[in-house]
Amino acid sequence: MRGLRASKWTHLTPSIFIALAACSPKAPSVLEPRGPGAARVEPLWWLMFWISSVVFLVVLVMIAMAIRRRGQIGEPLVEESPRWGNRFVVVAGVVIPWLILTSVFLVSLKVMQGLASEGDNEALTIRVDGRMWWWDVFYPGGVRTANEIHIPAGEPVRVRLTASDVIHSFWVPQLQVKIDMIPGKTNEMWLQADKPGRYRGQCAEYCGIQHANMLFYVVAEPQADFHAWLANEARPAPAPVAPAAIRGRDVYLGSSCFGCHAVRGTTASSEFGPDLTHLARRETIASGILENNRENLRRFIVEPQTVKPGDTMPPTSFSEEDLAALLDYLEGLR
Ligand code: CUA
Repeated sequence: MRGLRASKWTHLTPSIFIALAACSPKAPSVLEPRGPGAARVEPLWWLMFWISSVVFLVVLVMIAMAIRRRGQIGEPLVEESPRWGNRFVVVAGVVIPWLILTSVFLVSLKVMQGLASEGDNEALTIRVDGRMWWWDVFYPGGVRTANEIHIPAGEPVRVRLTASDVIHSFWVPQLQVKIDMIPGKTNEMWLQADKPGRYRGQCAEYCGIQHANMLFYVVAEPQADFHAWLANEARPAPAPVAPAAIRGRDVYLGSSCFGCHAVRGTTASSEFGPDLTHLARRETIASGILENNRENLRRFIVEPQTVKPGDTMPPTSFSEEDLAALLDYLEGLR
């Protein structure tokens, strides 16, 4: 009896989680497309939903009929005219599924063809590299940023997708389909948002302990804002002016941060971790999971393994003065 009860709950648990996830106000939905790519996929989702619903209902009705008949004791279990029974098996078990699957396949091909034919804009190509567990983003002109992809609203941007360690999957549900990032291979897609806005993306392929915390944001902006952003990103990091920030830079260059995080314009040039050249302009840190503010930066620097367990970032032990100076410096990287 206890075993039965336990198994009942194990079956229920996933559905409870799915229901809770659906309630989360921030979760982006493929059913709220904000770009032409996702808009092409939405009707396919609904088509599959309605076909599945109808099939499900028909099966339920047939189960109900079977249960009702089961009560009539004495009735032969085998149909008296097996010819009709055989015909039913062929029609319902072979012909109808074949028709449904073939039509869905053809519609999917048409959607895929549409997705492939669009986005032929060569104006801007960026590269996104999947890492454990963050996103390395490259723009033309030596611009490198992380976990925040800026695009001009209303036009397609070509995106080359690579991976440096394991397989990740690049997915912005409201803008495009998901595409795998495979080590040693370059996949291509395009991104387009109809209107300026902030669209959440996430890794869609299990890639290790922090997979669920591998988020990013696509920030679609009016043309002028996008170009101003890109021009600023192309500049080296601003030199600190205030004495505390100058001290912070020295702390940075003399610490373990230096070994992994590049700050263009200084001697820190390692590409192992996210580029911090214009860190202060990003809205989030730790791959989209924390708001970019002083308190969160401090937490991430002091106890990275509490913020993102399993991350390659080692804990640090700065004195309070050094830490405050370091935070001043990082907050000035605009
Ligand atoms: Cu990267 Cu999951």
